[in-house]
Amino acid sequence: MNARQKRPPVRSCTTVRCGGTNQKEPAIRDKYTLFAPFYDLLSGEYPLYHAGRVLGINALAPTTDQQVLDIGCGTGLNFPLLQERIGTSGTIVGIDRSAEMLRRARRRAQARGWQNVILIQADMVLLDPRSISARIQDSGGAAVSDAALATYSLSLMGDWEQAWTNMTGLLATDARVGVVDMQDPVGWARWLTPLARLACALGGSDITAAPWQAVEERCVDVVRASARGGHLQIRAGKTTHDG
Ligand SMILES: C[S@@+](CC[C@H](N)C(=O)[O-])C[C@H]1O[C@@H](n2cnc3c(N)ncnc32)[C@H](O)[C@@H]1O
Repeated sequence: MNARQKRPPVRSCTTVRCGGTNQKEPAIRDKYTLFAPFYDLLSGEYPLYHAGRVLGINALAPTTDQQVLDIGCGTGLNFPLLQERIGTSGTIVGIDRSAEMLRRARRRAQARGWQNVILIQADMVLLDPRSISARIQDSGGAAVSDAALATYSLSLMGDWEQAWTNMTGLLATDARVGVVDMQDPVGWARWLTPLARLACALGGSDITAAPWQAVEERCVDVVRASARGGHLQIRAGKTTHDG
């Protein structure tokens, strides 16, 4: 059964304020604010990172009517692929810390005429799931979501384990979670390691973070994939009650 309970109205970007400082995060607080206008162009979407997005959403396999969290949604590059899966009766809840990235996500949604997108500005490490859940409901969504996707975002969050815990606090029982993130290339592609590390350093990602391990350790029915010489790691699975 879907967690979503009612059709959401047109949304605007909701600002949620969180106190405190994310001590473990890399010094990237303003990077995505400055980078937002150029993100889609310069982030290496084609030919590199789009492949992981496609594999991640295939592995997550959200279905019609579902409410999907997009964790660190950025400019909304996942939204078109998610919309194909969930349809107009489903809901995307994009959460990101950067108002500028969210502004672009909102523009994308408006340009496509999507009325089923809720955008929330919040820090995944610091947020209180109950307060975010209330905000989602205020915007017409359901209190808990059926699935969550984090593409190229957890490895930026410093204390990504806390972000994971907060994310699961926003999910229904037996929800599915998909993680797409980066590591050093392997095998024949090892010679590309300096380039991969440079790309991650420029984006503020910790290439050693390996946040997909949480899916391996805390989910069941895990689907695995990799791409771009192992640089992109994809995992999706179903959360368990102690996950
Ligand atoms: C590399 S971008 C990826 C964006 C998008 N997921 C994609 O696949 O294109 C990372 C995003 O994570 C966001 N972010 C970083 N740390 C965050 C945090 N602690 N809480 C929420 N969003 C965060 C950034 O603002 C940025 O939009």
